[in-house]
Amino acid sequence: MIIINTNILNSRCINSQQYSLENLLHLCKLTDTIRNIASTSEGLKYLKTILSDKRAILYFKQPSTRTFLSFQNACHILGISCSEIRDTSTSSEIKGESELDAIKTFSQYVDLIIMRHPSSDFIYEISENLPDDMRIINAGSGSDQHPTQALLDFYTIWKYGLENKKIAFVGDLLRGRTVRSLALLLNKINNIKLYFVAPKVFQIKSDILKQLNVEYELTDDFEKVMSEVDVVYMTRLQDEYGGINEIIDTNKYSINNSNINTLKDDAIILHPLPRRDEISIEVDKDKRVKYWEQVENGMWVRVALIINMFGKDKLYE
Ligand code: CP
Repeated sequence: MIIINTNILNSRCINSQQYSLENLLHLCKLTDTIRNIASTSEGLKYLKTILSDKRAILYFKQPSTRTFLSFQNACHILGISCSEIRDTSTSSEIKGESELDAIKTFSQYVDLIIMRHPSSDFIYEISENLPDDMRIINAGSGSDQHPTQALLDFYTIWKYGLENKKIAFVGDLLRGRTVRSLALLLNKINNIKLYFVAPKVFQIKSDILKQLNVEYELTDDFEKVMSEVDVVYMTRLQDEYGGINEIIDTNKYSINNSNINTLKDDAIILHPLPRRDEISIEVDKDKRVKYWEQVENGMWVRVALIINMFGKDKLYE
């Protein structure tokens, strides 16, 4: 685990390890406060003034729908002007400029860099090489971490109650960065149990398990776990990181009309999205489905995160 210099903690969102339970609960409550303010047009006008003197760049070197658009819209809500690079064939990287030089260049123009990158480590290199007051957000670092997805997932679970919960992660846990980041956030909660449900080849790596203090279980028996848990967190196959030379019956790790009622009546179903066939569209109308709420929550949690990183948490309600 790479430790982040504590002097820069508030100007960086790099990994899940940096957040204490106190930070997390503060962000959850701040998100609720912001949503309340945003419920009126006067409130929305006020939010737009909060960071209207700031500029941000979205530098995304992997595909994205939700993270990119929710950050872009979070910036719009706060009055932050945004620029973007998603296709480096249109930037001077095509002429041989290094990524580090490109990012040092952005830092001359903007106050906030939001970056998604295929490497697990590059976010740490950027953090080390830019001034302490440059705000930097990890919007996905390879197959390692996706801390802002974890923040919105944590907020979504918090809305339904965090205490004494049994939470199952299902799917490609080997390369699923959202699972890795969320497991580390949930590790801050007492009386929680985590289940990692996957065939052996897709099980979560030991680097995460070694950091867990909460009770956890590894299993490949989704049907058994389904009836026990309060939260099911489904994930897709992350085959952008390569194939696996083993035939897996993915039906055993999916939710559809024929098995959904194995879940408790008050369980919730989460998914960071995008999905493939691990959740059938036919279950979308089930009251336990909360992944569309997650999508909406993501934008508001990111508003809260940005406000917090700029130290503007004292809002007028
Ligand atoms: N959940 C998530 O990161 O979605 P995108 O890849 O669409 O941003």
